[in-house]
Amino acid sequence: MPDSADRFSGFAEQYDRVRPRPPQELADMLRQWAGVAEPSVVDIGCGTGLSCTIWPEVTGVEPSAEMRAIAARRGVRVVAGSAEDTGLPGECADIVTVSHALHWFDAARAFPEIARIMRPGAVLAAFDFDWPPAVDPEVDAAYREFEATHNALEAERGLRPAFAPKSEHLERLRHSGLFRHVNEVCLHMRESGSAERFVAVAASQGGVVALLEEGVSEDELGLTRLREVAERRITEQKTWWWTCRVRLAVR
Ligand SMILES: C[S@@+](CC[C@H](N)C(=O)[O-])C[C@H]1O[C@@H](n2cnc3c(N)ncnc32)[C@H](O)[C@@H]1O
Repeated sequence: MPDSADRFSGFAEQYDRVRPRPPQELADMLRQWAGVAEPSVVDIGCGTGLSCTIWPEVTGVEPSAEMRAIAARRGVRVVAGSAEDTGLPGECADIVTVSHALHWFDAARAFPEIARIMRPGAVLAAFDFDWPPAVDPEVDAAYREFEATHNALEAERGLRPAFAPKSEHLERLRHSGLFRHVNEVCLHMRESGSAERFVAVAASQGGVVALLEEGVSEDELGLTRLREVAERRITEQKTWWWTCRVRLAVR
């Protein structure tokens, strides 16, 4: 199992409880781009299957057994594999999705493997939500402080595996030479959530979990301060506005 998948061990249930699902419009747009009404879809790094929920049928590929168990419980056909070695037949997919996972992949091996399972004209959609969702300016500012603190602590303690910055996904796909057209679009998604969920989403990141496991306190992490601000500003439920950033690559 790749190290990157280890990071998601031990908190799959919590992850599944709080993380957002993709917007349904994404499936509509991808059907149109691929030109197929009932596409064969593969979701690589499908985790607990949250990113599969927009499809009536999808094959998930996931290296972590713990994540796979939850995806299977959700009814996703999920296979043990990685982006570098999916184990799937060539040209089997009209659409390949990668949600919040491309940064973990070894691009030199994963991009050719993804291209191999795509039929000519198939579409890859590698998407991530911009974090955090827009909810409230004070909560936003507190999140940025928390983010800077946990990033610095992860780097200081050597807990940050080498991964590709999300801002480079588009250029790396373009320069791979494996796709005939590459572009980025942003979709909008709206949902609602409580202060408790906002803090839980912030804490659902692999690096934060690793720091808590190492004995770093919630105070040191800036999580206590984030909770205080969120509880003060998000009373009951508030609307969350997410931006879903989708890199499209056509085979
Ligand atoms: C942040 S989670 C995203 C899960 C799901 N796609 C979602 O959006 O909720 C990242 C997932 O990528 C998986 N992963 C990590 N390295 C991978 C690799 N090399 N190939 C395939 N999946 C990988 C992890 O096990 C984890 O389930």
